[in-house]
Amino acid sequence: MKTLKKVLKWTGIVIVALILILVITVACRQNMKYEAPYPDIQASADSSIIARGRYLAYGPGHCADCHGAPESRELMLKGQEVPLSGGMPFKLPIANIYVRNITPDMETGIGKRTDKEIARLLRYGVRPDGTAGLDFMPFHNVTDEDLTAIISFLRTQKPVKHKVPDHEIFALGKVVNAFLIKPVGPSGEVPKSIPRDTSVAYGQYLANSIANCAGCHTNRDMMTGAPIGELFAGGLKMESAIDPENYSIFTPNLTPDSTGRLFGWSQEQFIKRFRQGRLIPHSVMPWPSYSRMSDDELKALYKFLQTLKPVKNVVKPGVIANKE
Ligand code: HEC
Ligand code: HEC
Repeated sequence: MKTLKKVLKWTGIVIVALILILVITVACRQNMKYEAPYPDIQASADSSIIARGRYLAYGPGHCADCHGAPESRELMLKGQEVPLSGGMPFKLPIANIYVRNITPDMETGIGKRTDKEIARLLRYGVRPDGTAGLDFMPFHNVTDEDLTAIISFLRTQKPVKHKVPDHEIFALGKVVNAFLIKPVGPSGEVPKSIPRDTSVAYGQYLANSIANCAGCHTNRDMMTGAPIGELFAGGLKMESAIDPENYSIFTPNLTPDSTGRLFGWSQEQFIKRFRQGRLIPHSVMPWPSYSRMSDDELKALYKFLQTLKPVKNVVKPGVIANKE
């Protein structure tokens, strides 16, 4: 009996010690610093470069879909260019994330950030203080030319004073942050510029580096955001944009398989669908932004989607009740 008690006592001590070590490690790893180069990017005052940046921001890059203030959501959905003053919460199981104010306000926006700091965050996922940025934005492979355009445009906005709350990371989120969150950077050498034509290459660039179609049209682990299904094959359950408590929608399969949503769609139908904008009010797809894309860009996107590997994945269409 005595030895059993002793064993239990020591097991208890070991478990308590291990938990303490874990807690301390998690605490120490909350503000890990990372190294990344500063891209050689400088904002320009050239009006055609600024126009390209504005187009990317309010069009395929859909910055306003996240960075628009919640109060201006109605106007954004009607297609207006709303201020990018931030504040929208992402309520995740591990944290409440608040999208930042990216107008040039000195105290509450990005007024104090240098061009190179903004470029490093967008390309390498490292914040100005060296900590890892959260991977909400897919712009790691944006060309120097387009990154310059985006930052040039950001500098021309009217500053809006709007203090956004700090992110709230829950206990489990801190564990995820300690061990799983690392800066995400480009997948290879980033080109200086890319021809803007109707080619598959440009379509792939738009889909992957600017518009982030696979961000939603891929099934993911909601804890880490890591894909658990094939890219573009859909099946991610997304909360309704207008009644998240009660309704959700699964993202359709965009691969050219007979189970895919685009099966049998002509290029003309695809373009027409984007011109129609949001048809399902519950949909979280940034239709208002994407509907600004030119015919040529939509042609390129369509062509690129046709080159994907067909993946069999039957996705339940329409709006579904969360209780189902
Ligand atoms: C899917 C939502 C989403 C989209 C779309 C998006 N952002 Fe963000 N953005 C975020 C979140 C969330 C953060 C906070 C990230 C963090 O704290 O690590 C952020 C942070 C930033 C920051 C850092 C702000 C600061 O205070 O340093 C910049 C700059 C930025 N975004 C620019 C852009 C631009 C430009 C676009 C469009 C081309 C864009 N974002 C599109 C969600 C988004
Ligand atoms: C923020 C999430 C999100 C992003 C980003 C996104 N989608 Fe979607 N998409 C959805 C959801 C949800 C639906 C289903 C509801 C609907 O049809 O609007 C959908 C539906 C679609 C449909 C079917 C429309 C129909 O009428 O049947 C197509 C085509 C489509 N998306 C293409 C794309 C392309 C191409 C991109 C990138 C340019 C993209 N999506 C980016 C969430 C997203």
